[in-house]
Amino acid sequence: MEPIIQIKDLTFRYPHSKEEILKNITLDFYKGQFIAVLGPNGSGKSTLAKLLTGILQPEKGSVIVNGKLIQDEEDVWQARKTIGIVFQNPDNQIVATTVEDDVAFGLENQGIPPAEIRIRVDEALTKLGLIDYKQMEPHYLSGGQKQKVAIAGILAMKPNVIIFDEATSMLDPQGRKEVIETARKLNETERITVIHITHFLQETIFADRVIVLNEGKIFFDGTPEEIFAHSQTLKEIGLDVPLPVELSDRLRNRGIPIGEIVNEEELIRKLWTFI
Ligand SMILES: Nc1ncnc2c1ncn2[C@@H]1O[C@H](COP(=O)(O)OP(=O)(O)OP(=O)(O)O)[C@@H](O)[C@H]1O
Ligand SMILES: [Mg+2]
Repeated sequence: MEPIIQIKDLTFRYPHSKEEILKNITLDFYKGQFIAVLGPNGSGKSTLAKLLTGILQPEKGSVIVNGKLIQDEEDVWQARKTIGIVFQNPDNQIVATTVEDDVAFGLENQGIPPAEIRIRVDEALTKLGLIDYKQMEPHYLSGGQKQKVAIAGILAMKPNVIIFDEATSMLDPQGRKEVIETARKLNETERITVIHITHFLQETIFADRVIVLNEGKIFFDGTPEEIFAHSQTLKEIGLDVPLPVELSDRLRNRGIPIGEIVNEEELIRKLWTFI
């Protein structure tokens, strides 16, 4: 597998903070994968995302994007073209008064010619099922739709990687579902590498790989199957383990072949088959 982002011996602390927020992390992200990064509040997930895109600079160690070590302004500029980030709060990401202008914003900043911008905006909005909302004020959209507008703006810049930094955490279940489905679709059909940062264990089930951060270190790195089988350990570091996951974990430990259960409906459906 070919790495798209490589992190080597990365250590970071904020100015004036005594403690190291990330402690000597070495990690490669591979092209085309859907990677979930899970961790309790304050474990350093957002800090890591900001280091990957050059918003923050490491104290020690290096970040290599697309084979290029991030050293100067030009490297940061290139890294930002490669990696887009969708943040938590949909309202903070809207910058324009119509959906299409919002999606065009990043392209205008890159100095792309207007005719090309129009093509890319329409293409991105079509892919996200938002083309009919083109002229609408973003303000009228749901939280999930606003996040999709933010994603369209990133997609229009043709990135290789999209980081979703808790991009679902302020949404209702419907919005959450829409954003996750969008992330999966972009990964599957556009071959975009997705780094999905979350503290919902359920949202890691679709990932090719799950990385758990705790207190600035990698606590776990493996498949969703492995992480679901260790839900007790996750509880110890303060992550919420949903009841269906916990129950199915216990049943599995008693030799009942229940499989991976992520939600209540599935648990109920599976339990029925044992009666
Ligand atoms: N600008 C800052 N200055 C000083 N300390 C900061 C700053 N931003 C974050 N921190 C601290 O760094 C640590 C890691 O924060 P970070 O936001 O990376 O965690 P996180 O895993 O994203 O948490 P959450 O799940 O709450 O989003 C926390 O202890 C936080 O208080
Ligand atoms: Mg965060």
